[in-house]
Amino acid sequence: MIKHDIKDIKLAQKGKLRIEWAAKEMPVLQSITDRFRKEKPLKGLRLAACLHVTTETASLMETLKAGGADVYLCASNPLSTQDDVAASLVRNSGVPVFAIKGEDNKTYYQHIMDALSSKPNITMDDGADLVSVIHTKRKELLKNLIGGTEETTTGVIRLRAMAAKGVLEYPIIAVNDAYTKYMFDNRYGTGQSTLDGIIRATNRLIAGSVFVVAGYGWCSKGIAMRAKGMGAKIIVTEVDPLRGLEATMDGFDVMPMKEAAKIGDIFVTATGDIDVICKECFTLMKDGAIFCNSGHFNVEISIDELKKMAKARRMIRDFVEEFTMKNGRRIYLLGEGRLINLAAAEGHPSAVMDMSFANQALCAEYMAKNYRKLEKKVYSVPEKIDQDIARLKLKSMGIKIDALTPAQKKYLQSWEAGT
Ligand code: ADE
Repeated sequence: MIKHDIKDIKLAQKGKLRIEWAAKEMPVLQSITDRFRKEKPLKGLRLAACLHVTTETASLMETLKAGGADVYLCASNPLSTQDDVAASLVRNSGVPVFAIKGEDNKTYYQHIMDALSSKPNITMDDGADLVSVIHTKRKELLKNLIGGTEETTTGVIRLRAMAAKGVLEYPIIAVNDAYTKYMFDNRYGTGQSTLDGIIRATNRLIAGSVFVVAGYGWCSKGIAMRAKGMGAKIIVTEVDPLRGLEATMDGFDVMPMKEAAKIGDIFVTATGDIDVICKECFTLMKDGAIFCNSGHFNVEISIDELKKMAKARRMIRDFVEEFTMKNGRRIYLLGEGRLINLAAAEGHPSAVMDMSFANQALCAEYMAKNYRKLEKKVYSVPEKIDQDIARLKLKSMGIKIDALTPAQKKYLQSWEAGT
């Protein structure tokens, strides 16, 4: 059998059925797969992917293979792997997978090294760990690389920082910044899957709760919108005055975290920065407060401080850790502070991942065709790719839209006509 390091190959049949179920909701990716099978735009290329190993990622692996790529896959988070999917990819699709749900940090990085043993020509990242490891520990791999793609906001921020410092050694397309990615995946995907993760982990009633959302980017907007829809009272915390204003005019209470900490029942962070729920917040929280993270890395909640401050800790149910504080209050951390939507639930629904992963597939194809023209920079997704995906998605949903008339087009290009 092909190289792999997964939990249990016997889970393959369960994974196969779940992958089939998810694929039904991914018609755009399916249409790309059908074309790739004929045209083989990735023929002869080795691709290392560091993504959440989910049913949707499995469909993307099929697309890339159909395009002719030789694909290796590792996890982009120690707690987000679906072990049955990993098993099915190895047994039924012949993809070398290196990912085990709950792996420690050492194994996580070993698995990145295993994926890089493919000596990739293209990297596909979710959080920029592949790129980071290549640039720090595996520089000899740079000579094979023609380009890469990046899935998420946090990864794009890291890569732009690398480009700004002049250390990025190959071109990357920021898939996250496509309209058909962030407007849907970040907003509706994170919105729904974060609530799903909190509910699966806690089985708590959202209605009537005071629900604190840290940040008001696209992910946080989705979380606030969905929690409001379920009857919660929303508090938003922000550092950006424009976003603070936007949250206020969207009808939410806006205040500093240290004030919100005293009144919140459930807290979610999605800011991409460190220490958002900090040491002092834990001293202010009510007995029974629940907190979790939906940002890419587990840095937003000051967990090390919490561990030092607590008198006792225990797992009270799957994904729920109880911390007893010195004054007897008990507060609850979900999913080790890792992305709660993937730790305790299954990540974003397939219908939004359809567009995110259509972007990934088409950007890999774009990279294969155009890499000679590209510099060592972070590029936006070409507008045509974004438009094509939106058109295909609408079509798959049976929705038609209007087209501009020649007169309307002409009017939009003119400047002479005024009042
Ligand atoms: N990121 C968020 N949700 C995901 C999913 N379902 N599959 C892969 N990556 C994801």
